[in-house]
Amino acid sequence: MDKPTILIQLDTDPQPSAFDRVVAIDAGVQHLFSYGGVTPDAVMPLVHGCIFTRGPKDLAKTAIFIGGSDVTAGETLLAEVRKHLLPLFGLSVSVMLDSNGANTTAAAAVIAASRHLDLKTCKSLVLGSTGPVGQRVARLLAAAGGHVRIGSRSQEKAEVVAAAIRKAVPTANVEGVASSSSTDAPTALDGRELVVAAGAPGAMMLPLKYRAACKSLLVTIDLNGVPPAGIEGVELNDKASNRNDCLCYGALGVGGTKMKIHKAAVAELFKRNDQVFDIEQVFQLGKSLGL
Ligand SMILES: NC(=O)c1ccc[n+]([C@@H]2O[C@H](COP(=O)([O-])OP(=O)(O)OC[C@H]3O[C@@H](n4cnc5c(N)ncnc54)[C@H](OP(=O)(O)O)[C@@H]3O)[C@@H](O)[C@H]2O)c1
Repeated sequence: MDKPTILIQLDTDPQPSAFDRVVAIDAGVQHLFSYGGVTPDAVMPLVHGCIFTRGPKDLAKTAIFIGGSDVTAGETLLAEVRKHLLPLFGLSVSVMLDSNGANTTAAAAVIAASRHLDLKTCKSLVLGSTGPVGQRVARLLAAAGGHVRIGSRSQEKAEVVAAAIRKAVPTANVEGVASSSSTDAPTALDGRELVVAAGAPGAMMLPLKYRAACKSLLVTIDLNGVPPAGIEGVELNDKASNRNDCLCYGALGVGGTKMKIHKAAVAELFKRNDQVFDIEQVFQLGKSLGL
């Protein structure tokens, strides 16, 4: 008899994310074991619980999902999980990282941009790019080949993120910029074709007067779903809506694609027992869905 699917949710926050739990069930997971406040030293027995229980031929029916609000803590857990898998003996399970929805949301945003722009040459600005979602958006845009400005209220923080992206993507053409003051914002926007706002919920990242004055701008994507909008004038449900000669996406306009990618990635985990879904794999999967 076929074994049921089990998803082991390892969350770095004390309370495992309700959002990730609902999506897991909607993706068809039959049993969900959720653990909160997971730290690296707790990982080994959890991984052993996955790989030493079912025989190798059934291990594709067990998978691990790593979430929580801190993407750096999530990355550390992912590295720890991989350390304890034994793929040489077939004793492995597939793993997905999506702390704060960063990978699935970034993939959805970049797929939206790719519908209208050639990402190989696109000049972009990512606002709020020091957060988990913004970092992943900037990394995907940089990996695609275009020039990316990493925007933050603090130039110093932006440069730290730019350096991390150059390390992860050696070909990255990125520049850390301050982007919030009345002098910095127009300079950061100058010559940009794409702006993605990944600021904190309810934070206004780009006033209309700067956006309207930027004649090179073709596409804006606002990921903030909590009013006021992160990009002034962009509506939550916008999906390639033309506003001021610019194609606009709002949080819900991107959110539908994000949900499809998230569910597809969870379902994909159970097809083999040796897959790792981090930002690049999630993006490739999203592209393959033809969304
Ligand atoms: N649409 C979807 O499907 C979806 C899914 C997941 C998340 N989201 C949304 O995506 C956005 C980004 O998520 P996240 O977790 O990466 O966000 P976050 O970590 O809360 O914030 C991102 C960045 O926003 C900047 N920021 C914080 N407070 C600010 C303020 N008061 N004014 C201006 N800037 C401020 C900070 O950058 P600096 O300090 O460097 O300026 C921060 O690093 C959020 O709005 C989230 O709700 C959307």
